[in-house]
Amino acid sequence: MNIKQPIKPLLLIALIAPSATYASSSAELFYGIFNDAYFWLFMLVAVLLALAYYSVKRAFDTIELAMRPDLAKKKAEALDAEAAAEDAEETGDALSRWYKWFAGLKPMSKEKDLQLDHEYDGIKELDNSLPPWWLYGFYVTIGIAVVYMVYFHILGGPLSSEEYQAEMERAEADVAAYFEKVGGMVDETNVTMVEEDRRLANGKDIFQTNCVACHAADGGGGVGPNLTDEYWIHGNTINDVFKVIKYGVVEKGMTPWRNQLSASDMQDVASYVLTLVGTEPANPKEPQGEKM
Ligand code: HEC
Repeated sequence: MNIKQPIKPLLLIALIAPSATYASSSAELFYGIFNDAYFWLFMLVAVLLALAYYSVKRAFDTIELAMRPDLAKKKAEALDAEAAAEDAEETGDALSRWYKWFAGLKPMSKEKDLQLDHEYDGIKELDNSLPPWWLYGFYVTIGIAVVYMVYFHILGGPLSSEEYQAEMERAEADVAAYFEKVGGMVDETNVTMVEEDRRLANGKDIFQTNCVACHAADGGGGVGPNLTDEYWIHGNTINDVFKVIKYGVVEKGMTPWRNQLSASDMQDVASYVLTLVGTEPANPKEPQGEKM
């Protein structure tokens, strides 16, 4: 049977299907349809229809041949001629001759010469040599292996671990460059009060989520000290407050936040804490530390 035959109509259906369901030229939609269940449903139905068409057609062809011996004879002759031409080897254009060589195809007529002289239960073996496509593919992999070994293990090309190292260094440099651009990496030595409402609001959010359990929602204190009075254990400058938030006071129960909050978030919440000074909390804790 000629297997190329069903492929053409199938391709046609594959091309029509998307354009029929989605009459849009946008590239995004074009790729989007591959995620669409209806598209695949449509394709499935199309494939099933094509298969149904070809099995029916084949059935009819067989019936026709059975009913018309003259046709059957003609067809058999055509097949014989094809086989004879194939055996003659010189047939076909350059491309198909090359393909026969590349795939290692031997004409049927040469089969007798290739046959090995053993036989098991009627099964015989042909002494075919490896098909060139396989053999050359194998040689290419050997070549690649040699080049690989010489380049990476003798000439000192970058090994995976070194590439990883270099990539990490590049990423670190990128991060540093980024912080350089957005105004320097904030730490306890260079932190400043933020004044923008947006950032103070962010500081308040962070305080409400992370700090109220110990400092109370209004900063009046609880497990942790009152943040609204003038008494401070660790100092009342933005640098002091930032530092306490960043590193915590673990032995006294104040959590370090440097792994949970970004530097700019800690800056925001530290600034917010300082805006609480002078406000009047509902249940102020007694002063701790020194008056400042
Ligand atoms: C698990 C309880 C707890 C949580 C949660 C907590 N703190 Fe504290 N915090 C404390 C304790 C206890 C102290 C007192 C430390 C000391 O005695 O040295 C303290 C101290 C402080 C101080 C220094 C006060 C001073 O008098 O110097 C600041 C500022 C502060 N916390 C801010 C925060 C912020 C902001 C958060 C949220 C991001 C937070 N804390 C979350 C328990 C907590």
